Amino acid sequence: MQRAIQGGVRGTAARITILFTLALIALEAILPAVVGAQSPYSTISPATDQANDIQGIYKLTFWLALVVFVGVQIGIAYTVLRYRRRSDQDERPEQMHGNKTVEIIWTIVPAIILLVIFIPTVRTIYAHDEQTKNPEMVVEVYGKQWWWEIHYSEPESIAGVVTGNEIRLPQGKRVVFELYTNNVIHSFWVPQLSGKMDLIPGHVNKLAIDTSTPGYYFGQCAEFCGESHALMRFKVIIEPEEQFNAWVDAWRAGPTEASAEFVEDGDVSQTPAIFGLCLACHRVEGTNASLAPEGLEQQALTEDGGPGTAKTAGPDLTLFGCRTTIAGGTLSNTPENLALWLGDPGSIKPGNYMQTVIQDDTLSDEQIAQLVDYLESLQPEGGCPEIPVQPGIEEQVPVSDPD
Ligand code: CUA
Repeated sequence: MQRAIQGGVRGTAARITILFTLALIALEAILPAVVGAQSPYSTISPATDQANDIQGIYKLTFWLALVVFVGVQIGIAYTVLRYRRRSDQDERPEQMHGNKTVEIIWTIVPAIILLVIFIPTVRTIYAHDEQTKNPEMVVEVYGKQWWWEIHYSEPESIAGVVTGNEIRLPQGKRVVFELYTNNVIHSFWVPQLSGKMDLIPGHVNKLAIDTSTPGYYFGQCAEFCGESHALMRFKVIIEPEEQFNAWVDAWRAGPTEASAEFVEDGDVSQTPAIFGLCLACHRVEGTNASLAPEGLEQQALTEDGGPGTAKTAGPDLTLFGCRTTIAGGTLSNTPENLALWLGDPGSIKPGNYMQTVIQDDTLSDEQIAQLVDYLESLQPEGGCPEIPVQPGIEEQVPVSDPD
């Protein structure tokens, strides 16, 4: 009898060993494919101190979960193999329930595991909140329907610069985003830079990042906000400080001679006649397109005194020719895509406000071509700043100039 039990234990141990060897082989086959994937929306390749902190908690949780998983699987495998019915002569083992010792153990162990996750999580939340109190740079982000308006506010040297959907930042700064919305709740999320933070009407949330690694980072609204929520994308471009400063200078300078051939009398402080359709909603710095409300502004614009609100206005188009994407990060910024967008914006991003002005037959092909030429010409003297790219995701950065 004794020998039979020993034989049973040895057999069970052997089976468990085989099972785990197979599981390890399977893991080894799958893991490199998962870890090696340089997905741009990946949270497993952090590029700031803040994202690293979050990664630390993620790893802790992962390993603890793995220990629990393996422990439970070993328990199941052992029980199933060791106590299975081997023959018709086997007797039903003694049945038990309500073992006090076991109940206490499996209440205390999970409580300890949760505490080990809870403490660093709360500490990180408070540390990140503390970091929002000493910014070197403040950038206001406004969630719109469905795109992102970006207002640079501090320091003085960048104050007043406004752009859409692409947040250029200098390397090596503590940047604090102040998050606003003039409609519903959105969520600001750039997985490689930090965690998610909601934009809430009537309330300002703040999120700090230390920009350390130059690169092109993919962001996405992470809170369901309506029909085109999935198309509410944006980019963060971290670049060397001189390059960022040059971009700011170019923004303030407005259109260059490159735009002269597309406007009346070569006067680049004017927009083309066809742009009159766009004036109520879009600005171009340094031109007569300076009426559109921005941020949370509310402004009477229509002749009958109706509200022309910042709620419905569109992105500032200064330096549009340097944007890598258009339509809230939905399409690469190419003349072909821009023509598609101007032809029928509602078909590309359903429910956006531009479709209330421009439908399928509003603009002729010639008018679309005029707008495309003008908008793509909005670039700095000497061309657009280079986009820094992280190794491994080059092919996913859309090109602004297909030539
Ligand atoms: Cu904005 Cu979802």
